[in-house]
Amino acid sequence: MPTSGSYLTARLRLEPAGPANARDLWLVHNDDEVARWYDGRKPSLQEVEQQAQFMSDSWRLHGVHKWIAYDHASSEVVGRGGLSRTPVDDDWGQIYALLPSEPWVREPHDIDQPFTAHARWLEIGWALRPKFWGLGYASEIGRAGLEYAFDILGMEAVVSCTVRHNVRSRAVMERIGMQYAGEIRSRGVVQGLEEAQDDAPFAVCVLLRRDWTPDVAPRSPIRPR
Ligand SMILES: CC(C)(COP(=O)(O)OP(=O)(O)OC[C@H]1O[C@@H](n2cnc3c(N)ncnc32)[C@H](O)[C@@H]1OP(=O)(O)O)[C@@H](O)C(=O)NCCC(=O)NCCS
Repeated sequence: MPTSGSYLTARLRLEPAGPANARDLWLVHNDDEVARWYDGRKPSLQEVEQQAQFMSDSWRLHGVHKWIAYDHASSEVVGRGGLSRTPVDDDWGQIYALLPSEPWVREPHDIDQPFTAHARWLEIGWALRPKFWGLGYASEIGRAGLEYAFDILGMEAVVSCTVRHNVRSRAVMERIGMQYAGEIRSRGVVQGLEEAQDDAPFAVCVLLRRDWTPDVAPRSPIRPR
């Protein structure tokens, strides 16, 4: 299993999220423009500390979870993003219909802590502090995530899900070469409704290993520190 050190892209230092980054993670999510895409809820620092511990456990036991992204030059926290394993459950089981009918799709990871996860495919996502929107940072994190998934972890697929009307997030998926595959239903925000709903429509994009080429997602200068 690869070590989980920091990685550098052209403009960012990507650190595996853990307790040391909890306050920076909180800074990303304690913002109205970000929170509206996460059921409209801003987490407390204590909740984020628990989440950061879970992320750290996932890095240690499953070899991957989200990064916290820092600007090279200023060290300012830009956002959080990257990969994570997905639980083997009914919610994520909806994704099977959007992946090839092959055995690897349902294969569980052999370590069932901190949760039972899919072994051969990952989820990718991003959230930036609004002052860093419109500058390509989410795409930079996304491309680094794809490289990590395919070139380092040897995954078969990466999927990304966002509520149907999150056009900025969908644009990132397309920009980094992922293909729209269909929709699933899960708890989330629905356009025009205040409260999160249990059956919100989520758009799903997929990139299969067999379609992963430098042409669809040009490599960024990523290297272990
Ligand atoms: C989703 C989110 C991360 C997208 O951020 P973003 O800034 O729009 O996406 P990118 O960082 O890839 O930037 C792309 C934009 O920067 C521009 N850009 C500038 N320099 C660029 C560069 N070097 N490379 C790529 N794009 C660049 C692009 O043209 C594009 O502009 P546009 O939005 O006018 O079309 C951000 O809106 C966000 O944090 N939202 C809240 C959280 C959220 O919804 N997360 C997803 C939940 S599933």
